[in-house]
Amino acid sequence: MRLAVIYDSKTGNTQKAAEWIAEGMNEVEGTEAAVFAVGEVDADFVKDSVGVVAGCPSYGALMTPNMRNWLFAEAGKLGLAGKLGGAFATEQYSHGGGELIIQSIITNEMVFGMLCYSGGGSYGHPVIHLGPVGINDNVEKYNGMENYRDNFRIYGNRFASKAKELFGE
Ligand SMILES: Cc1cc2nc3c(=O)[nH]c(=O)nc-3n(C[C@H](O)[C@H](O)[C@H](O)COP(=O)(O)O)c2cc1C
Repeated sequence: MRLAVIYDSKTGNTQKAAEWIAEGMNEVEGTEAAVFAVGEVDADFVKDSVGVVAGCPSYGALMTPNMRNWLFAEAGKLGLAGKLGGAFATEQYSHGGGELIIQSIITNEMVFGMLCYSGGGSYGHPVIHLGPVGINDNVEKYNGMENYRDNFRIYGNRFASKAKELFGE
């Protein structure tokens, strides 16, 4: 079972988050998860995947232009209908727009006909509502990407478990 994680990242935080998600996915037996930058997506791998998770940083509390352009111009060519969809984000401030980005990526995924999933509260802690958000290391002393590593990994694991339940290996 293949799963793709697609990200936009300029300074590395969202790439890290994508890799942590894939790490959690690959913990689920029978999963082959791969990570792609928006400009370097392996179309054949994505078409062959049963699920796709996309994420980007908050830019002015909106998704990045790169992610929006990719969703608008490229993602529709990848046969996404019926695949499991998920989203994630990174930001600088605790209230910097991460969940808005997730929500708007999920909206795009719904338009493609994807089945969107986060696990929500069904697994208990950590409760991940719409998708995982990581906060960078720059401003808030009590924050930093490393604090969110497990959330991304666990989200990836839950996503892959649901994909396996729905689509088999
Ligand atoms: C142009 C620009 C706009 C940004 N706007 C926001 C914002 O509105 N809210 C926020 O919390 N962080 C904002 N940030 C910070 C990034 O979201 C944050 O550093 C993110 O982790 C960067 O991801 P990356 O390292 O994958 O590029 C902005 C960064 C840039 C470069």
